Amino acid sequence: MKISTFLTAVPSAVPSAVLAAFLVVVGLGAPHASAETLLERGTYLMESIVACGNCHTPQGPNGPIAGKNLAGGLLFEEPGFVAVSSNITPDRETGIGSWSDAQIIASIREGKRPDGSTIGPPMPIGMYRGLSDWDAQAIVAYLRTVKPVRNVVAKSKYEFPLPPAYGPPVGSVPNVPRDDRVAYGAYLAGPAGHCMECHTPFAKPGMRDFENKLGAGGAEFHGPWGTSVSADITPTALADRSYADIKARITTGTRADGARMAPPMAYPFYANITEEDLQAIVAYLRTLPAK
Ligand code: HEC
Ligand code: HEC
Repeated sequence: MKISTFLTAVPSAVPSAVLAAFLVVVGLGAPHASAETLLERGTYLMESIVACGNCHTPQGPNGPIAGKNLAGGLLFEEPGFVAVSSNITPDRETGIGSWSDAQIIASIREGKRPDGSTIGPPMPIGMYRGLSDWDAQAIVAYLRTVKPVRNVVAKSKYEFPLPPAYGPPVGSVPNVPRDDRVAYGAYLAGPAGHCMECHTPFAKPGMRDFENKLGAGGAEFHGPWGTSVSADITPTALADRSYADIKARITTGTRADGARMAPPMAYPFYANITEEDLQAIVAYLRTLPAK
């Protein structure tokens, strides 16, 4: 099975100014108003907007293979690398069952394994640097509940050196308040869901043009489906489109005429995004500069 694709040709850190734009932070580490537990939050994120399984769960012809949730082994073939997604089930030998919570969080937000090695593309580490402490812990809480699967995956091969780090230490990242709809939408479309990574073209190899072309689309993804090109999701393309129309594209993976949209967007996961969160995402997209 081969799901070759996407994202970066070489590791690209998101410039901190851009990340700051995603993190319009009000209040430090404000707890959420809801009484959601870490595991409830983690389950929601993992089965919807965050969708690590879109890259880490092996797929057969009929979608994700039953009993193999997050067992790794998907292949990403791009100029400069052949990456294989890791087994991130709690299996102690072939997965990440022996890693501490802090080590797992460092792997997601810093791209750093416990042995000090760097995790390479296409994992969107630059975006994940902005995941809040609470959400990172929630993802770990979920990962602890996944069935351990013994599955040795091949090693990724990169023709370029991976950076020693994707930026300065992440430190502590507060929650973005959900009642600030646009700011929270920016958080969902950026650090949580990396919509903006796939939907922004490269300025030069490995460097997405977040500054001038945020959301303008035009990034190519190669795989068994051929080549797909991400859509413009700025107001240039979406201004005249209704919320219901945009929501349907994101959550059903079909066009208005019923034709299927191409991979690798995580449509089956996005079907589980709440109405409130979809509204926040679309509210944010409507504030992007038109391209
Ligand atoms: C776009 C695809 C993609 C997404 C999305 C993604 N990953 Fe990864 N991940 C990879 C690939 C590919 C590797 C292997 C990279 C390498 O070999 O350096 C990897 C490596 C890892 C590792 C290192 C494991 C090890 O044993 O070395 C961890 C942990 C991890 N991912 C967790 C996650 C989590 C948690 C999420 C969601 C928050 C996630 N990943 C989202 C593609 C992805
Ligand atoms: C892994 C890459 C990837 C991610 C992540 C991703 N997209 Fe996409 N998206 C694409 C591609 C590629 C297409 C074009 C598919 C096609 O033309 O068949 C697309 C199409 C779309 C469309 C349809 C546009 C239209 O004109 O009908 C919308 C809307 C959209 N994406 C929004 C989002 C949002 C919101 C998110 C985050 C929740 C997201 N995307 C995450 C790759 C991605």
